[in-house]
Amino acid sequence: MRVAMIGTGYVGLVSGACFADFGHVVTCVDKDASKIERLHQNIMPIYEPGLDTLVEKNVKEERLFFTTDAKEAIADADAVFIAVGTPSRRGDGHADLSYVYAAAEEIAELIDGFTMIVTKSTVPVGTGDEVEDIIRKKRPDADFAVVSNPEFLREGAAIKDFKIPDRVVVGTDSERARELMRELYRPLFLNETPILFTARRTSELIKYAANAFLAVKITFINEMADLCEAVGANVQEVSRGIGLDGRIGNKFLNAGPGYGGSCFPKDTLALTKTANDNNTPVRIVDTVVEVNAARKKAMAGKVIQAMGGDVSGKTIGVLGLAFKQNTDDMRDAPSLDIIPALIEAGATIKAFDPEAMEEAAKLMDGLNYVENAYEAVDGADAMVILTEWDQFRALDLERIKASLSSDIVVDLRNIYSPEDMAKRGFEYSSIGRP
Ligand code: UGA
Repeated sequence: MRVAMIGTGYVGLVSGACFADFGHVVTCVDKDASKIERLHQNIMPIYEPGLDTLVEKNVKEERLFFTTDAKEAIADADAVFIAVGTPSRRGDGHADLSYVYAAAEEIAELIDGFTMIVTKSTVPVGTGDEVEDIIRKKRPDADFAVVSNPEFLREGAAIKDFKIPDRVVVGTDSERARELMRELYRPLFLNETPILFTARRTSELIKYAANAFLAVKITFINEMADLCEAVGANVQEVSRGIGLDGRIGNKFLNAGPGYGGSCFPKDTLALTKTANDNNTPVRIVDTVVEVNAARKKAMAGKVIQAMGGDVSGKTIGVLGLAFKQNTDDMRDAPSLDIIPALIEAGATIKAFDPEAMEEAAKLMDGLNYVENAYEAVDGADAMVILTEWDQFRALDLERIKASLSSDIVVDLRNIYSPEDMAKRGFEYSSIGRP
């Protein structure tokens, strides 16, 4: 099949490369000429493990193309995917759909013959109806179907999530579009991936409900962690103890500094807006949004407390800035709340992240970015782990101990064992563990 992918952000680029790898001919379109130029040189706009190799292979095998010219991509396409950004609108938290609608306008002018227009961007319920109206108004004669096909991939594990998904969700009432979507995802039938066909609005809501539910799960275990700290229990054992119940499941029960990233904060907010607009508030999600924001703010206090209640004039070595490991994405990262608050409290920060320092430097100044973990802690009064990169899980702790001017380690990702750290002579604190 011939696919046009509008938008080469996280979802567009990964989906485009993976569809090409499935054997389809994919043209990715972006208005940003310098991004397209870099992609032609196989320079990825984001850090995502395995993406450069996948892109290079499919470009070489002539199944994957990049262009700024929507016309050539869309006219021949059987399926045109909309994978543009839907950021939070300033002020009210609604998803900003201007890029989606602009894409719909452009697509309307260019489709030729029966075409599926598929929204992969995360869009509020009813957006598909709006896209259909836009196209119908501009091209009353056109033969098309608008389909919702939300994406569930995680940053840092995006290729695996796309190629071995738990499910594919397709929202449309067009039988012809259903057939084409089956054809598009045919390679996944081999591993028996469930494909769920629903109405378009249902499919749009599934995406928000999934992200909100995961955010609820994380926030629940984060509050359990606080309770564990108060009563002397261990949150990792609580997670395991409840997660072994098949009805609960063991995933997304790692307590931490609060969720961040490009999706959960934005999507939970957008869901609460949709719910309120429809006079059916989702109070549990309202609360999760509030609790998570407060948690990220409270984490600096936890570090300050571990350092004796005062960090003024002290140096802190921070390991990890990205919102999670294996990404350079800094959007809504807990570090953006924690580091400025520590600087405000008078601390000097030396920070290291394997991939996110360039992005972090655009958002935060007043700290020293250094070359590696050991440099960050050299002479520092404490080591603070903010992101669970694998390379931080196996640090040379003897060397860390010798480099630090105190024994204080604050681990907001629970990657070390409290017993082991105590044995090594560290004053170690983590999340929800005695
Ligand atoms: C999330 C969803 O997991 C994907 O299914 C979805 O497709 C994506 O949003 C999206 O809507 O595009 P992502 O934001 O890449 O993916 O990352 P996650 O691995 O879900 O992590 C989100 C946040 O939750 C991170 O800050 C992470 O540190 C935190 N988290 C995750 C925890 O604190 N504890 C956990 O147990 C799991």
